[in-house]
Amino acid sequence: MSSTLTKIYPLKYTGNSLKVLDQRKLPAEEIYVECSTYNEVIQAIQNMLVRGAPAIGFAGAWACCLAVKAVDDKRDLLRIFHEIELARPTAVNLSKAIRRMEKCLIEKGAGSLENEAEAIYKEDIEMCNIMASHGLTVLPNKSEFTLLTHCNTGSLATAGIGTALGVIKFLVQQNKKVHVYATETRPYLQGARLTAWELQKCGIQVSVLPDSAVTYLMKTAKIDAVYVGADRIVSNGDTANKVGTYMIALAAQREKVPFYVVAPSTSFDLNLQSGEEIEIEQRSSKELSEFNNKQICPSGIDFYNPAFDITPSELISGYITEKGVLNVSKFKYNF
Ligand code: MRU
Repeated sequence: MSSTLTKIYPLKYTGNSLKVLDQRKLPAEEIYVECSTYNEVIQAIQNMLVRGAPAIGFAGAWACCLAVKAVDDKRDLLRIFHEIELARPTAVNLSKAIRRMEKCLIEKGAGSLENEAEAIYKEDIEMCNIMASHGLTVLPNKSEFTLLTHCNTGSLATAGIGTALGVIKFLVQQNKKVHVYATETRPYLQGARLTAWELQKCGIQVSVLPDSAVTYLMKTAKIDAVYVGADRIVSNGDTANKVGTYMIALAAQREKVPFYVVAPSTSFDLNLQSGEEIEIEQRSSKELSEFNNKQICPSGIDFYNPAFDITPSELISGYITEKGVLNVSKFKYNF
């Protein structure tokens, strides 16, 4: 495998535990934390040791495998699976993975759960590769590209090369010269800490910018396209993704920059009709009031810290999925 597609493993299932690369410590330290119980995996998801929609999906599936090692009763297990599902609310990948594990438990029994979790993981690798090849088809035929991405959508967030970042890696793999602008992604800094680290590891040129510099960048530099991931895409195409995505989509529309969402079928929720129905996770005020464990805001004030926002479908140029590049009218025939 060439360095461009260098694989980083966010999770390693050992059969008795789940080793989780602690993404909170990146880029300074690469440390795996060993979770031996389903409850420890729930904590790892909630505390962002593992994050990114596909990755929390298969982390949840493996948490189910750890649960069956400790509990025999099927009804208790189904209750625990539901507890795992509630670890984070916005990315539908987690719910979808848990539905599969429930079905497997009911229809095939506890002995088949590890195979099911492995299947979810392997399918994600494959979907990343297929999305990456579809993602190139929307670009003009030229040799140099300047692209913008938000949050972290690469190997750290998936089983494979990534969603939005997978397309970018694949483009570099085709010998194109690519310059990536990665938003720092306040307040959790997935862009500055994780995307910059991952792209550097893959030898891809990256510039980190403050989220608030996106409009100025688009006004003054020629950005060929924006590629972002998704946590939940609903029937009308409205898309939940990392907070700040909507703002970037608005800027892209104004500056006539194509804006693509790259996501596997596991991120689609056609049970919901519009973005207003999506539950948006509110995270701890500490993510805003502290920096490097130091308080940076006055005590006793309020915060507003949604982890995601909703980009309306009319701002999205196309949905790059493993089924091809789709528009909203094609969703119901493909998922
Ligand atoms: O809060 P996070 O880091 O889990 O948010 C991640 C994102 O919003 C990603 O853009 C999304 O999950 C797509 S990852 C392939």
